[in-house]
Amino acid sequence: MNKVMVKLLSVAALAGVMASPVQAEEAAMVAAGAEVFKRCQACHTADSSKNAFGPSLTGVVGREAAALPRFAYSEALQKSGITWTEDNLRQWVADNAKLVPGTRMRHVAISDVAEQDYLIAYLKTL
Ligand code: HEC
Repeated sequence: MNKVMVKLLSVAALAGVMASPVQAEEAAMVAAGAEVFKRCQACHTADSSKNAFGPSLTGVVGREAAALPRFAYSEALQKSGITWTEDNLRQWVADNAKLVPGTRMRHVAISDVAEQDYLIAYLKTL
């Protein structure tokens, strides 16, 4: 567990918001994930009714790639045949151009497994 997590856990404990240690850890992961998501927010919104420069990521975990009707995806992503499983999301945020060569999304490189965990925990809440 890293420093951020420990801090978030103790904040949650102090606030008395947790019903169990497991829930507290989940809450801390989601909060840490929201921090990581700031790197995505320039282009992605968590609001399901809106696409920004990138497609909305509401409900993205488990969704097929390039599935939103009102977003102009790249041909590469449309033809990828990918479903956004946790594993594919990890590969995508670690090196999106490697997973889908020709994607229009600017390169991101989140290779830290803990950061990927936080991000996915957060994306699941959208
Ligand atoms: C500079 C803008 C930009 C940033 C920053 C960005 N994205 Fe994207 N993202 C896009 C674009 C544009 C697409 C559509 C790509 C395509 O059509 O090839 C996309 C597509 C996606 C998709 C596929 C969605 C779908 O409906 O198939 C996921 C998942 C995603 N981004 C996650 C992320 C995450 C997580 C981050 C932060 C770590 C991030 N993106 C950062 C612009 C961005």
